Amino acid sequence: MTDMVLKTEMPDIGVPRRGKVRDIYELGEHLLLVVTDRVSAFDVVLPNGIPGKGKVLTGISVFWFRMMEDIVKNHIVAIDVKDFPQKLHKYRDLLEGRSLLVKKAKVVPVECIVRGYLSGSGWKSYQKDGTVCGIKLPAGLLESSKIEQPIFTPSTKAEAGHDINISFDETKRIVGDETAARLNDLTLKIYERARDFAEKKGIIIADTKMEFGIYNDEIILIDELLTPDSSRFWGLKGYAPGRSQDSFDKQIVRDYLLTLDWDQTPPGPELPEDIVNKTSEKYQEILKILTG
Ligand SMILES: Nc1ncnc2c1ncn2[C@@H]1O[C@H](COP(=O)(O)OP(=O)(O)O)[C@@H](O)[C@H]1O
Ligand SMILES: [Mg+2]
Repeated sequence: MTDMVLKTEMPDIGVPRRGKVRDIYELGEHLLLVVTDRVSAFDVVLPNGIPGKGKVLTGISVFWFRMMEDIVKNHIVAIDVKDFPQKLHKYRDLLEGRSLLVKKAKVVPVECIVRGYLSGSGWKSYQKDGTVCGIKLPAGLLESSKIEQPIFTPSTKAEAGHDINISFDETKRIVGDETAARLNDLTLKIYERARDFAEKKGIIIADTKMEFGIYNDEIILIDELLTPDSSRFWGLKGYAPGRSQDSFDKQIVRDYLLTLDWDQTPPGPELPEDIVNKTSEKYQEILKILTG
């Protein structure tokens, strides 16, 4: 049985900030990011967890962070509990494989999204006026069409709920011209390397979101990288433009939720055991495909 962690409690370490998926502990100049097995769908955290999901996300992120090290530095300080501060060692069973000791960065307040295929809010915007984040795309693209030149389509973190797509000019106003240009550059470089790698493994990375931070006056990669939570992964087999594609990880959860009479506001419904198990297997599978 894979272990499951929905919520961490380490009273002597502190009270964490809890995001949708991560519990974040302050440790002086460092942070401890603990990736739980919480799962969200339609931006609502569900009552069930997906056993092993946190470990899968951690494994995938670390794999990509390393692969991109020559492009940009990242926030990782340590990944093994034995290299964490001594006071964390007694929590090894809880933390091992699902937590990262990271540099505490000043978060750049722009979500760096790159799209190589037209889906989600990008597809919605294109249908309206042929643009995404102010970028004009060729006419005649279909839902899920490949975008020959991947595009940088940043958004701001909205206080409540959904993020708002912004233009490159808006990005420049928020972070300055130089940083905006660098974010654009780094995001595209990282995506292109990952896309080419994943394609050889039969996976399309349709789009992904990354976050950057400032640490010692330098831009570094933070948060998670190219995981199923931050990206749309599609199977190359079965891909066809002109319709939405099954996403590799959460499709089972989403399809199940759509059979219910649920209005997609909290609280989310309980998932049946077979849906949980199938989803857990999907997460293991994507980890294996990408990093195995
Ligand atoms: N190295 C870092 N320094 C500072 N903040 C970070 C770092 N890495 C990640 N974060 C922040 O930690 C949070 C991660 O928790 P998560 O559960 O993913 O939150 P969310 O629900 O906002 O996605 C995000 O707010 C992210 O910006
Ligand atoms: Mg997050």
